[in-house]
Amino acid sequence: MIDWVDARLPVVDAYRRHMSEYYAPKNFNFWYYFGVLSLVVLINQLLTGIWLTMFYTPSDGFGSVAYIMNDVSWGWLIRYMHAVGASAFFAVVYIHMFRGLMYGSYKPPRELVWVFGMLIYLALMAEGFLGYVLPWGNMSYWGAQVIISLAGAIPFDVVPFISANEAKEIGDALTTWVRGDYLLSTATVNKFFALHVVAIPIVLLALVVLHILALHEVGSNNPDGVDIKANKDENGIPRDGIPFHPYYTVKDLPGVIVFLMIFAVVVFFFPDGGGYLLEKPNFEPANALKTPEHIAPVWYYGPYYAMLRATTIEFLGMSSKAWGLIAMAGAIVTLFLLPWLDRHPVRSVRYRGWLSKAFMMLFAADFLMLGWLGTEPAEAIYKTMAQFGTVYYFVYLWLILPLVHRFETSRPVPERVTGGRH
Ligand code: HEM
Repeated sequence: MIDWVDARLPVVDAYRRHMSEYYAPKNFNFWYYFGVLSLVVLINQLLTGIWLTMFYTPSDGFGSVAYIMNDVSWGWLIRYMHAVGASAFFAVVYIHMFRGLMYGSYKPPRELVWVFGMLIYLALMAEGFLGYVLPWGNMSYWGAQVIISLAGAIPFDVVPFISANEAKEIGDALTTWVRGDYLLSTATVNKFFALHVVAIPIVLLALVVLHILALHEVGSNNPDGVDIKANKDENGIPRDGIPFHPYYTVKDLPGVIVFLMIFAVVVFFFPDGGGYLLEKPNFEPANALKTPEHIAPVWYYGPYYAMLRATTIEFLGMSSKAWGLIAMAGAIVTLFLLPWLDRHPVRSVRYRGWLSKAFMMLFAADFLMLGWLGTEPAEAIYKTMAQFGTVYYFVYLWLILPLVHRFETSRPVPERVTGGRH
């Protein structure tokens, strides 16, 4: 039967190319668990999402989530797995991206792997925002209000050559179009529901397939940044490569189990994460007359929200809000450009000089700090910290990363991968 199918659709060939004869470097470490963990969380989100959709009604977002929590058998579990899963998704994806930064995994020939990864990250941010609005709690409402108002600021503040009246008209039209109504309403939730459960997941899945196909075309990088294809045996197999299946399927399994244990502890004992995973105002229904004391996005948007609020300058005829938007968008566009900004001749940070190591750690700390600041109230001291944080973010990516190799000596990169017997 396999032969019959294979003659019509080469499944055996695909299995060989992507599993049993995909030669991955034998020195993958802890950080390499997070690609497969992203896949695990993706599957969790899809399955729990499908089940939530069976009971959720966009015209009664808050009520139907309460119904899922109280009346649907195991509904509370499905809902918490999905809500905690959203945060878990970002946690594993951020670590996965940091691994890329450490080992220069975006450098040639893996630029496209990175670009697809960044498109996934964008889709994920859109998906998270749309999903957050669906329970129609008070933070859903006010969060949506803030984000949709940004759309209105685009023509008004960012496009300098149109008159204020024209800009306001275009801005209003744009926000009305995004809301699907003159105010945030059921029409908005209906629209967001369609995008959240159908449109973005299709895009996300397609991008994940492209991400992995692009990776398998050129082969995985590794913690040493050594090109394993440069050293092949007489059969053309990389000497430092091992078949993905069974070696990495087996190695990944304990990683997945440990992750699921941690995930279960959060789902069962801390599903709201002390207000960080599910924010307190979202336990109250959306209320246009009651602004939450402190509107803050969920932690994973924190760094960008901090940058938006940190920007207080007004020049070139544009408001500080417009510059905030530009900083936010610029921060993400810059990440897309990483493969071309990093001009270090050495791929992995392991063999770069200590300046590279120190600045990279500072960048990671800076990103975490910005993330935390984004969830805090906008007090003066926090604002100053966010300003420094935003400046360092751009200085690191636009100045330090392209130039640091000129000021340091790197260690020699070994011929073969390290950390295992040859
Ligand atoms: C749904 C989200 C994602 C999934 C399911 C996913 C999946 C994977 C998998 C299975 C691998 C191979 C295993 C590994 O190297 O860990 C991988 C590699 C990689 N991913 Fe992702 N990924 C996702 C998001 C991202 C994002 C957001 C980025 C960066 C912007 C990214 C950048 C990379 C890079 C550079 C590699 C190659 C790493 C290397 O060979 O050293 N990925 N991804």
